[in-house]
Amino acid sequence: MQPRPPVVLERLRRKVLGPLFDRLGYDLVPAAPDWSHRPTSPREVERLLDAAARALEADLHAAGLAPREDIRALCETFWELIPTAPVRQRRGGSGFNGALQLYVAMRVLRPGFVVESGVFRGLTTWVIRQACPEVRLFCHDPDLSGLQYRDPEARYSRQDWSYADWSMLDPADTVAFFDDHVSQARRVVEAHVRGLTRLLFDDDAAAHRIHAHGGPAHPTIAMITALDGAPEPIRWTRNGRPFEQPAGDAEAQQAADLIARSHAFDDMHRATGYSPARLTYVELHGGGS
Ligand SMILES: C[S@@+](CC[C@H](N)C(=O)[O-])C[C@H]1O[C@@H](n2cnc3c(N)ncnc32)[C@H](O)[C@@H]1O
Repeated sequence: MQPRPPVVLERLRRKVLGPLFDRLGYDLVPAAPDWSHRPTSPREVERLLDAAARALEADLHAAGLAPREDIRALCETFWELIPTAPVRQRRGGSGFNGALQLYVAMRVLRPGFVVESGVFRGLTTWVIRQACPEVRLFCHDPDLSGLQYRDPEARYSRQDWSYADWSMLDPADTVAFFDDHVSQARRVVEAHVRGLTRLLFDDDAAAHRIHAHGGPAHPTIAMITALDGAPEPIRWTRNGRPFEQPAGDAEAQQAADLIARSHAFDDMHRATGYSPARLTYVELHGGGS
């Protein structure tokens, strides 16, 4: 189980620091991961796991992925595993639902190699390692200063993945996981050039929902696959900063042509009560430049 925040610090936050930050327009909250809150009565745990398994089974089927393991059993294993995660994060990285989806997707895809772009504190690296103990893992992030989990077997780099040498990869046995706030059209094109066909994306928001998203990368897979030649750009604002996805983006069009199939998983909030996930599986047409 995750440790509780120290009582003295918690008092200080509630009585002094919290109100001070509040007056300055900020929320000061403990970095308690969402899985530190959980049902404890057996019937409610069963219901949560049943609902999660049903949602995942439907998503895997829609994504064209055939599990070789029982999904309900995987959910149960994950339920026992996640409280032991060595990363504490409330914001800026995956929560329970995103971690569960990644765990199950990796178990189903069974890659020999994983490229992870966007590591942050290392939670998703840990999840991938739990799902695939033998996988060769390549972790890319320009800022590795916040790592709370460093995988002993992984290769870490601050370089963008697109500059690295991938001659050792077997593209057919590789899954790339992008959670890096970089244009998802760019990542699709880069993956195709390297012969990859199996991709997972976090933060795939639809055009009418991207405003609610922190640090948005665009175009997202949803924007790319919804391309209909509309002449109007997509515009939104976030914290007063304007964003625009131009119409007729050539890279987005190129990416759209490379995608054989994509499926955005259910956000799982209804199933588990935890904060919504945004995982999308993308299959590309046969790789190569
Ligand atoms: C949302 S966080 C990743 C969260 C992590 N996957 C998790 O769920 O625990 C996004 C990360 O992308 C990283 N990032 C930004 N530009 C990047 C790039 N070009 N390549 C790889 N990572 C990048 C940021 O430094 C940040 O750590």
